Amino acid sequence: MQNGNGKIINIGLLGCGNVGTEFVRLLSQNRDMIYDKTGMNVDIKKILVKDKKKKRGVPESLVTNNPDEILDDKKIDLVVELIGGTDKAKEYVLRAIDAGKHIVTANKALIAAHGKTLISMANNHKRRISFEASVCAGIPIIRSLRESLASDRIDFICGIVNGTCNYILTQMGSYNLTFQEALKKAIENGFCEPDPALDITGKDSAQKLAILATLAFGSSIETSSIYTEGIDHMQQDDIRITSRLGFKIKHVAIAKRHQNGIELRVNPVLLDKKNILSNVDNEFNAVIVSGAATGDLIFTGKGAGPMPTSAAVLSDVIEIAKETGEGKRSNFNGVKWSNPDLIKIDDTENSFYLRIPIYDRPGAIGSITTILGENGVSISRADAELIPDKVNYGNVCLLTHRCVESRIKSAIKEIFNLQFLRGIPTLIRIGYH
Ligand code: HSE
Repeated sequence: MQNGNGKIINIGLLGCGNVGTEFVRLLSQNRDMIYDKTGMNVDIKKILVKDKKKKRGVPESLVTNNPDEILDDKKIDLVVELIGGTDKAKEYVLRAIDAGKHIVTANKALIAAHGKTLISMANNHKRRISFEASVCAGIPIIRSLRESLASDRIDFICGIVNGTCNYILTQMGSYNLTFQEALKKAIENGFCEPDPALDITGKDSAQKLAILATLAFGSSIETSSIYTEGIDHMQQDDIRITSRLGFKIKHVAIAKRHQNGIELRVNPVLLDKKNILSNVDNEFNAVIVSGAATGDLIFTGKGAGPMPTSAAVLSDVIEIAKETGEGKRSNFNGVKWSNPDLIKIDDTENSFYLRIPIYDRPGAIGSITTILGENGVSISRADAELIPDKVNYGNVCLLTHRCVESRIKSAIKEIFNLQFLRGIPTLIRIGYH
């Protein structure tokens, strides 16, 4: 169904693997929200696949194995390239730009190797080429470098940009797995490139660093000019011994501006366990960007996987749709300024820390836990202390399982009636999820 005045952007999707399938689903789920933000109805007109018979959960009527049906279709305004690699992907993207289509791609290999050519060609055709998903999936690092940090001089980037390497190192450290065992788990979880050698030799990180450094420093940086070490030589002994010394091993990509040039490297490093990057584990990515004026910024989140990747692809599509549609003429398009349904704090759910100041009496703890139990609050840990040098002064400290806040509040109301209560109980919610 068309929204509003019915203006349409038609998408031709090249490739429909895990990311492509998720992109189709996400676009269809968010179609009305996209209209609100852009003033455009964004539709998928054709999907290029290798094997038409394979079941994917996308509308079969859209599927073709003939690229010409997308590249020669004048009604297709925007091509989303999710094929990967640099052969067919490059050929199709060049043809699409030449035919006057905008491009959105998640393909870091393509952008790292041919970005300069593709971008200048798109500029000549006055078309957009966007690649937010090519680095760190759903983390908006490219848009931040391109827009939010456009005012600053970037001096330093250091990031965990390969989810597979980070997952392997985390698994080796946390579960004493060998490199091969951890790699097998990473493959099973779908974090790796089709050829996992790209991940574990550091090539994938180098491609991502080439893209980030090109945007950050405004010069053309080739993947081949980046010193690159992988983690394929990593031994369990290294993880164990460095851990004993207070370090974690992390695989990072670094770009550093010096007075006399730019340092670029991808390699494992030892980081103090308290370092912020030491606490970014498994498939999560994090990038520290340091601007001369802004100082250090940290971007972190899931750096791999169909959902965050397709969300980043869709964000590029929305950006292009905004420029084409009515979105660009309004501030904060998509914000309806109506009052949302707010959830009352009493209806939220958390686990809690509860400290009850008491005068020490026989059965004091029992009376408290009984009240909590009767109110449906389950205790996960209980602790009690007597305060030194204060006769009969104590605290009962409890951690609870998750419960609706109103339950623990009614329990506290009853606790207020207890004769041995010495002061006002402290209630603190645990965590923020
Ligand atoms: N194989 C990549 C990684 C996927 O592990 O980070 C996202 O680029």
